[in-house]
Amino acid sequence: YPPELIRNFSIIAHVDHGKSTLADRLLELTATIKKGHGQPQYLDKLQVERERGITVKAQTATMFYKHRTNGDDHSEGKDSPSFLLNLIDTPGHVDFSYEVSRSLAACQGVLLVVDAAQGVQAQTVANFYLAFEANLTIVPVINKIDQPTADPDRVKAQLKSMFDLDPSDALLTSAKTGKGLEQVLPAVIERIPPPPGKSDSSLRMLLLDSYYDEYKGVICHVAVVDGILRKGDKISSAATGQSYEALDIGIMHPELTPTGILLTGQVGYVVSGMRSTKEARVGDTIYHTRNTVEPLPGFKPAKHMVFSGLYPADGSDFEALNHAIERLTCNDASVSITKETSTALGLGFRCGFLGLLHMDVFHQRLEQEYGAHVISTVPTVPYIFEYSDGSKLEVQNPATLPSNPKQRVTACWEPTVLATIIIPSEYVGPVITLCSERRGQQLEYSFIDSQRAFMKYRMPLREIVVDFYNELKSITSGYASFDYEDADYQQSDLVKLDILLNGQPVDAMSTIVHNMKAYRVGRELVEKLKKVIDRQMFEITIQAAIGSKIVARETISAMRKNVLAKCYGGDVTRKRKLLEKQKEGKKRMKRIGSVDIPQEAFHELLKVS
Ligand code: GTP
Repeated sequence: YPPELIRNFSIIAHVDHGKSTLADRLLELTATIKKGHGQPQYLDKLQVERERGITVKAQTATMFYKHRTNGDDHSEGKDSPSFLLNLIDTPGHVDFSYEVSRSLAACQGVLLVVDAAQGVQAQTVANFYLAFEANLTIVPVINKIDQPTADPDRVKAQLKSMFDLDPSDALLTSAKTGKGLEQVLPAVIERIPPPPGKSDSSLRMLLLDSYYDEYKGVICHVAVVDGILRKGDKISSAATGQSYEALDIGIMHPELTPTGILLTGQVGYVVSGMRSTKEARVGDTIYHTRNTVEPLPGFKPAKHMVFSGLYPADGSDFEALNHAIERLTCNDASVSITKETSTALGLGFRCGFLGLLHMDVFHQRLEQEYGAHVISTVPTVPYIFEYSDGSKLEVQNPATLPSNPKQRVTACWEPTVLATIIIPSEYVGPVITLCSERRGQQLEYSFIDSQRAFMKYRMPLREIVVDFYNELKSITSGYASFDYEDADYQQSDLVKLDILLNGQPVDAMSTIVHNMKAYRVGRELVEKLKKVIDRQMFEITIQAAIGSKIVARETISAMRKNVLAKCYGGDVTRKRKLLEKQKEGKKRMKRIGSVDIPQEAFHELLKVS
């Protein structure tokens, strides 16, 4: 396959607009997978992905398609040339925007899928700009035209006004009924240019993704940008400097299909004896060990934006949790894990995630796939504190900050994001209120058409980490669409808020908040805790404090009767039974100091912003 017969493209879309369904249809159309193969959405492999209908881990597939272009020889007996089409899947969510832009770096064009009824949404905008900035050819696809509420003309007008895309370029499809699908691959071939790489240059491959296979070890997905890779070649990583041998190489068709060679412009897999996916960094350049090459632009390690502590729900389960986390991170090298100890919760882990969804998915997989029961602490973002001696420190765990940072801290910074929000016009008022409560600064406010408003805000990341999306959905009856990208750090007036039970600080409950909000957050946390902690044999005081200043306080009075009061000290078996029963009830409790805290207390804390 010379590069002229290769096309590399991606499908990008707002969540649920039909990206995976369309990908499936294209794979069926080219007989890459069998029609009705009984497993919808071939490309979404993980259980959580299928359950939540979101695409987390990118998958990629090669298809073969016969197509006659205008310039071809149309004489009798000449077969249409077969094209090699690489569909490079991108994760559908902003948490993975770095991975999205890496995947796009291997493409020359994209199908921008928009739901014919919902129109342009927040992730359509974010994804459009990623593709646009990468100079890719954009083929607009208006999908789900079979729906009764479909209004393709309105969507065409939006594409024109928002992105300056020519309405006559839009393909109208229904991935469900199959209508219009026959135009998609011809449009890919005719509109998207072939890969520009040079066959006679030194080998340069872009590492797109990797996963761990029990039998083969680490499998890397790569795009050959320049040169040719043959089985047995010695290759090196530009990021780590380590060398390997290309033991097995081939294409995803869609299962791994060995080919022994990968040509310029091709996308395929390489097995090279890497022991862990940590050695396979998305965005890395792989080259022949014998050559020196200029690495492909833009490798950067994943940046962790949300951190939370993970502790075994039952203290004895530490090893089980450790094992589960190790297995899970084999396939998700983008989570950072360090061991930590909490006075309140014992031995656990501090985990760094790319974003909120990433964190949620990780928790859910731990529980679903590995049966681990965990307590997770309030998520926090990486703050930067500057101390009086001039040193700057990134704080990923509020507990590590001294209780009265004011004494030693000279300045603090917090990460911000650029948030894109699209909503029906009638919800503009409440959304503006919500964003300003969350310390947002409005940057842009306009209308996509007569019914939809578009807003751009700069917001502290901390404010969207805690329940922002749920709140936004609930005040807009579910109609808001939301997306965000990392922005710079901003200087901020931050304080550490401690929670004290009977005068003892509970390290796992400390948070860092904006000074202006500290009183309100303190009050709410204390009230929430009062509701979920049961009365015990003694009085419990719950306090919120900034340094030595108490900002909120509640008391839970002591239980008047204890369980043994009825026994009159007589019946021993009865007494034992009662004690057993009490123990049973205590199982899902964490004892902190002398106070029993139910696990749900930690969940409640997640909802206070
Ligand atoms: P992510 O994987 O989260 O990025 O979502 P997606 O964009 O891949 O959407 P997906 O393909 O999972 O489709 C979302 C829903 O829309 C599914 O229930 C599909 O069955 C449905 N759907 C997809 N295409 C069509 C279509 O053309 N018409 C109709 N009526 N429904 C469709």
